[in-house]
Amino acid sequence: MIDIRFRLPDGSERRVAVAAGTTLLDASRDASVDLEGACGGNMACATCHLHVDEGWFDKLPPPSAEEEDMLDLATDWRPTSRLGCQVKLNDGLNGITVDVPRSSLLGT
Ligand code: FES
Repeated sequence: MIDIRFRLPDGSERRVAVAAGTTLLDASRDASVDLEGACGGNMACATCHLHVDEGWFDKLPPPSAEEEDMLDLATDWRPTSRLGCQVKLNDGLNGITVDVPRSSLLGT
């Protein structure tokens, strides 16, 4: 299992352990993080946008050109931004930390 820590805008944290192959979007749901993810992982909304901790960002497979195009539309973009629906977790990412931008939460 892969441990993930989500840091929320209010300073609280949620932790969850998921199987390899799970996306960060699905893991956020397991962790009861209200990440919007409006298009259900079809790379058509950017509302699953997350900021990956700098120490982990380079360990991720690079984004596709399509993901980069969609990230251009993300509110609060940072150099460590990724779409949660496009990042599949693997054993090398055990312990990864991601920050949830306020703009990606449901109801914001
Ligand atoms: Fe819509 Fe990720 S859920 S782009």
